[in-house]
Amino acid sequence: MIIASNSKALAEHLDAFKQQGKRIGFVPTMGNLHDGHLALVDHAHRCCDAVVVSIFVNPKQFGPNEDLEAYPRTLEADLAQLAARGTALVFTPTADDIYPHGVNAHTTVSVPGLTNVLCGASRPGHFDGVSTVVCKLLCLVAPDVAVFGQKDLQQLLLITKMATDLAMPVRIIGAPTARADDGLALSSRNGYLSAQERTLAPQLFQTLSAIGSEITKGERNYVALCSEHSKVLSNAGFIVDYLEVRRCSDLTHASANDKHIGVFVAAKLGQTRLIDNIQLELTDAVAP
Ligand code: PAJ
Repeated sequence: MIIASNSKALAEHLDAFKQQGKRIGFVPTMGNLHDGHLALVDHAHRCCDAVVVSIFVNPKQFGPNEDLEAYPRTLEADLAQLAARGTALVFTPTADDIYPHGVNAHTTVSVPGLTNVLCGASRPGHFDGVSTVVCKLLCLVAPDVAVFGQKDLQQLLLITKMATDLAMPVRIIGAPTARADDGLALSSRNGYLSAQERTLAPQLFQTLSAIGSEITKGERNYVALCSEHSKVLSNAGFIVDYLEVRRCSDLTHASANDKHIGVFVAAKLGQTRLIDNIQLELTDAVAP
């Protein structure tokens, strides 16, 4: 497995792959890898000849009071897991390499519409940081396919829109959310949970599943449904940021006729902010 720690080394190795006619799959990450990340790597392997993974804790997507410094960095363990998975190349740039003139002097890529709702509303600037770094990484790696997790559905939707709007020559693929046996979506931030918080955390996915089954049975008063379940989460000790049903096409509030919808939740347990979602395809809906 090749480790390229700067963009010059990356370019040299990618040239070699491309001369060999290899189809390149790319999985951008911030490291501290778990089975959710590795499922994306496996997904990329299934449709490509060489898989490139980036590990970069992107300062531009962290707010001033967020966990940039504390974000878990476990490079040695990450590299061992990627090597065991047959990864061809790992790109581990520094912040200076990605933002040579500093984060604030760098061109920002901003995706309108999808950026200011849900997580974007409570994390101003976060998604501009994500779209900017993903755009730059896609330019540097120039993959045929890039794989992102449905766990971060808002992120996946905005990257898909960015790639379409900018006619980027890459196919964006969304891979299903990997979960622990009790349903909790795997996340690097789960490591911050205390033992007691970890026992409560699966209630997030249980709530989404309960809402999903009520919608499937015909419930269409989404606001009342979410407000009722939100109260249950609050009583259990969560600080709910949002629990909402939205259209997957543009993340506006869903109405009874919408067909492809998502139930989105973000909630804090202690200091740890967790997010999750499920997608639903309603067959009895009439709108496109
Ligand atoms: P990170 O949180 O490290 O996640 C990297 C990729 O793994 C993302 O596409 C994310 O959706 C996916 N992922 C995380 N947990 C998952 C799970 N339980 N199941 C399936 N996929 C999962 O997301 C980021 O990094 C950054 O914003 C990044 C895109 C790398 C830009 O900096």
